[in-house]
Amino acid sequence: MATGVTSKNKPNNNDIDTSFTIQYNGKKDINEILGDAKSPEYNSRLKIERNNQESAWTNQLFFGDNLEVLYDLLYQKNMAGKVKLIYIDPPYGTNSSFQSRNLDDAYDDILVGAQYLEFMRERLILLRELLSPDGSIYVHLDENMAFPIKLIMDEVFGGKNFRNWITRKKCNRKNYTRKKYGNISDYILFYSKSDKYTWNRAYEPWTEEAMKREYQYIEEETGRRYKKVPVHAPGVRNGATGGKWKGKYPPKGKHWQYTPEKLDELDAKGEIYWSPTGNPRRKVYFENSNGLPVQDIWMDFKDAHNQNIKVTGYPTEKNIDLLDRIVLASSNPGDIVLDCFAGSGTTLVSAENNARKWVGVDSSFHSIETVAKRFAKGSKPMGNFAEKEIQEEQLSFIEDDSDKSVLKTSLEFFSKENELSDEKIREFKDLFYVK
Ligand SMILES: C[S@@+](CC[C@H](N)C(=O)[O-])C[C@H]1O[C@@H](n2cnc3c(N)ncnc32)[C@H](O)[C@@H]1O
Repeated sequence: MATGVTSKNKPNNNDIDTSFTIQYNGKKDINEILGDAKSPEYNSRLKIERNNQESAWTNQLFFGDNLEVLYDLLYQKNMAGKVKLIYIDPPYGTNSSFQSRNLDDAYDDILVGAQYLEFMRERLILLRELLSPDGSIYVHLDENMAFPIKLIMDEVFGGKNFRNWITRKKCNRKNYTRKKYGNISDYILFYSKSDKYTWNRAYEPWTEEAMKREYQYIEEETGRRYKKVPVHAPGVRNGATGGKWKGKYPPKGKHWQYTPEKLDELDAKGEIYWSPTGNPRRKVYFENSNGLPVQDIWMDFKDAHNQNIKVTGYPTEKNIDLLDRIVLASSNPGDIVLDCFAGSGTTLVSAENNARKWVGVDSSFHSIETVAKRFAKGSKPMGNFAEKEIQEEQLSFIEDDSDKSVLKTSLEFFSKENELSDEKIREFKDLFYVK
C-alpha cells in the first residue's frame, strides 16, 4: 500500500476557500434555525418525575418531536455544551411505515429528498450546540441518505472533524434474486466537535491465526513471540534522527524513529533485530499488545438474527453490543449520552449499563412505552413474538430485576399528552414507579 507524504507543492489553503456546500430547496439560513429557538412557545406539558437518589442528575425521557425537545434542552434546560456523546439512528428516508413484532404502529418514515435533508440538518445544528467541546456524534444511516447527510455534517461540524465512515454488517448474507449484490451493510458517520475529543481506543481480541500471522518470530533466548518493524519513518530530518547511528544513515528520504541514545538503549536490551545484511529492525512483543485496534468495518454487530436473542419487539431495534462499543469508545462514566431518535431505547440501556447519564427522545408513543417497559422489565427472546395469539400475560416482559434506572428517570410529554388517555398516563406512572 502506497502512503503519501505531504506534497511540497501544496497550495497555502489559508488563502483559498476550499469549502463547498450542498444546495436544495427549502434550505434555511442557520441563523434562522438557531434564532427560532430564542423565543420558543411551548404547549402545556406533562411531567412524571421520580428522583429520590442522592445525585442531582435525573435521566430524562421525552415524548415529542425532537426539534421542540432539542430547543427546550438548549434554551430552557441549559444543556448547551454538556452532552458528551450523541448517537442517532433516525428514519432513513425510506417512505415506509414500521410496525412492532406485535403489529403495533411504531413510526412513519415518510420524509424524502430535500425535506428529509432539512429535517436532519435542523436537528444536527441543534445537536452540535448541545455537544461538549470534547464530545462526539455518531449518525447511523443506510445507503440511501448517507452521502448527502455526510455533506451536511461536513457543513455543520466541519470536514476536519469527520473521523470515520463506519461500515457495519447488519445481517446475514442474503440469497438475492435481484440483479445486484446482496445488501448486508449500513453506515455510521462519526464526527467530533473539535480535535480534542474523548477517545478510548477499542480493541478486538487476537485470534490464534491472526496472532501467528502478525507476530511470526519467537525469541530463542526467552520464547517471547514478536514481530519486526522498521526503525525509520518517512521524511527527512536535520537533527540527530537524520544523522548516523552505528555508522549508518537512515534510508533515503527517511529518518530514525528514535534518537541514537534511545536506539542504543533498545539494542542493549536485545530489542533490535539485525538482519544478515546489517539492517536494524525493532522487535515488538506480542505480550505488550492490547489486542487488534478496531477498524472502520464492524462485522460482529448484526441486529437480532435468531429466535433466542432478546429483543423488545420494536422495529429497527439496534444491537446493544454495537451501542456498547460506541458508548465505551466516546464517553466516560458519568458523562451524558443523548439519543433523540430513541426507538426501543438501545442507546439509553447501553448508557445505563455503562454508568453514563442519559437523555432520550422519541415522537412515537409506542417507543416511549417500549423504553419504559424495557427499563422496568427487560426484553424477551425474539421467538416469543412469533406466536400467533399473544396472550396478555405473555406480554409481561421476562427479566424483572432491573428497577435501577426508572427510579432516576423523568418522563416529559411535549404537546403530546392530549393523545393519551388518563388510563395510559396512570400506566406510565406505574412503570416509572416500579420498585
Ligand atoms: C430507526 S428508529 C430508532 C431505533 C433505535 N435505534 C433502537 O435501537 O431501537 C427511529 C426512531 O425515530 C423516531 N422519530 C422519527 N422522527 C422523530 C422526531 N421528529 N422526533 C423524535 N423521534 C422521531 C421514530 O419514532 C423511531 O422510533
